[in-house]
This record gives sequence, structure tokens and C-alpha cells, in this order.
Amino acid sequence: MQMKDIAKVAEKLKQQLEQLKDKRAILRAPELRDLYGKIKDVSADEKRAYGQAVNALKQELEQLVEKYEAEAASSDVETIDVTAPFDTNTPTDKRPQLLTADNGSMHPLMTELQKISDIFYRMGFTVAESRQLDDDYHMFTSLNFPEGHPARDDYDTFMTQQTDKNGKKLIAPAHTSTMQNRLLKKYKSNLAAGRPIAVLVPDRVFRNEDLDARHEHTFYQFEGIYVDKGIHAGHLVATLKAFFQEYFGGDLEVKIQPFYFPFTEPSFEFAATCPFCQKQGCNICSYSGWIELGGCGMIHPNVLKMAGIDPTMYTGFAWGFGVERQVMIKHGIEDIRYFESGRLDFLRQFK
Ligand code: FA5
Repeated sequence: MQMKDIAKVAEKLKQQLEQLKDKRAILRAPELRDLYGKIKDVSADEKRAYGQAVNALKQELEQLVEKYEAEAASSDVETIDVTAPFDTNTPTDKRPQLLTADNGSMHPLMTELQKISDIFYRMGFTVAESRQLDDDYHMFTSLNFPEGHPARDDYDTFMTQQTDKNGKKLIAPAHTSTMQNRLLKKYKSNLAAGRPIAVLVPDRVFRNEDLDARHEHTFYQFEGIYVDKGIHAGHLVATLKAFFQEYFGGDLEVKIQPFYFPFTEPSFEFAATCPFCQKQGCNICSYSGWIELGGCGMIHPNVLKMAGIDPTMYTGFAWGFGVERQVMIKHGIEDIRYFESGRLDFLRQFK
């Protein structure tokens, strides 16, 4: 075996490489294995140079394979001009693809938010979005938290350096209740027309929390508001009971117990019998037979007044429940941090 034989094999393998679909197969080619196998037959004075030349060929092939692989990976994504105007009438298969979407799936939270919205939509609620950044007025003042009220400290808010026109820092909303004043104002003309205000706000909220299996800094809530003539706590309980029976499936008992929120009076904590053990006790409900689902109450007269609604004519109820904790109960998820982790092994279970 001569050095010129190595050159011949090199030329042949490089030609083969161009044709191969699986480029890595070239590194397992029998010709390359033969070159190594023949080292023992090469004369002692040529052995060193021969061995080095075979190794050099193998390295060259490895580099070529890596180059092909890198090119293939980058060509999966078409380069597009992100500043170009986009014609929304373009058929889906002709649109520029940022990333191939065939392997993607809905995030479990989005799936559940759609289910929640759908149930309330069928019950006559309009669905509205919240904001990612709000102001002091909507986070606190419009919700009957007076200046300096200690209940403001119950919400560990993230604030910006930037201030609003009143010199107050902007706030990443810590609950979806920030939308109550805006939505009451927006839909109050319904009341004069003899229709109720019925709005659902499913959206993202932020709190500066110590994180653990039940606490996230970023999570979702779904807020509901309902106002009309003659509305009382019985309507609140019946509405939420109907929702949770539909969401979890099956018959549930529900109960409310007194609580405090500045923006509802009276305020309640809402609980339902565990949908998994029918009150027998299981690990989902910590063997209590009941699960606490969130806060609710009758909208405080001051909140209605600040939105220009006469509380002597109209009354209403509101609630705000955490989506993650509810989805954790539904699917038996033990740690809230999985949702934002981007862990594919977690996400693929919901495909
Ligand atoms: C509120 O946020 C009130 N705005 C709810 C409300 C609305 C009451 C309208 C009355 C009328 P609370 O802080 O308890 O209340 O949060 C409501 C729900 O959000 C909790 O029951 C829980 O499910 C969820 N939640 C609160 N903090 C976290 C957190 N750090 N991580 C995950 N979920 C949370």
C-alpha cells in the first residue's frame, strides 16, 4: 500500500460524499477502514508517514461532514426581510417561514385559556385582554385602595423607573382586576340599554414573589365582572359553580368563606369539592376533600362610582382566579415552574 493509494481513496470518498444523503456514512466507508487495516503491512520506515496521512484524510472528511451539516441546518430557515410589508392574503404555504412549525404544539396554558374563555363566552361573557404595563390609578386607586393604604403592600409589584403624567411609576399588573374600571366604563352603556355588563379578562400578571412549587413571578389569571340590576352573591356562586362543573366535568359542591379585598364588599374565597375524589380526600386536595380556587365578591360601590355607575341602581360581582393552579389540579402537575421552563419533555405531554 502506497501513499498514492491514499490519494486515490481520498478522491473517491470525496466524490461519494457529495452524493450521499446521510453525510456521516462516509466516516464508516469500508475503503477508509481498509486504509487503517493495512497499516500493519506498510514497511517500518514508511509506517509513520502512512499512518499520519490516513488520519489526516479521516480528519478532512470529518470537517467536510460538519460543514455540510451546518449548511443544512441554516438552510432550513429561509432568510426573510422582516421589514418588508406582509400581504395577509398570501396563502399559508407561500408565506415566509421563520421556523418550521410542523413539530410545534399549543402551550398547555393557552389550550386551557381557550377552554375557559369558550365556556364563559357560551355563558354570554365578552372576552377582553389586559395590559402588560399599567398605571397606579388602575392597579390601586380605581380599585378603592386609598393612597398609603396597607393593602397596597399585599401586592409585590414590579415598577418601572418611568413615570406616568401624575409622577407615579408604571406597574406590571399584579392582577387582572386592573381592567375593571376600564371595562365598567366601556360597557356601562349596556346598562341603560337594559343589558348586563358581562366581561371575562384572561391574561398575564406579574408579582415579585419568592418562587416555589405554587408561586411564579409571571402567571395567568382570569377575571370576571358582571353588573346589572338586582345582582347578589347567589348569582356569583351559581355562575362560578356552573363554570367549574363544566371545566372539571361532573357535579361539584361549592362554598364561599369570608375574605378581604378592598375592591369587593363582601369579599370571599371560593372553594369547590375536589373533582377527583368526591370529598373522600386524595393527594390533589391534600386529603381535605375541598380545593380553594380563588378570590371573588360583590363589586364595591366605590369601584362602580369611579366608573360612573350608580351603585344604588346597579350591583355586580367579580372574581379573579389563577389559571396555573387550576390547570395543575386538572392535570396533576406538581410544580408551577414547569409552565415557563420551556422543558420539551413537559410540553410534549400536552401535544
Ligand atoms: C387577586 O389577585 C384578586 N384580584 C382576585 C379578585 C378579583 C378578588 C376580583 C375579588 C374580585 P389573589 O391575590 O388572591 O387575588 O390572587 C388570585 C389567584 O391568583 C389566587 O387564588 C391564585 O390562584 C393565583 N395566584 C396568586 N399569586 C400567585 C403566584 N405567585 N403564582 C401563581 N398563582 C398565583
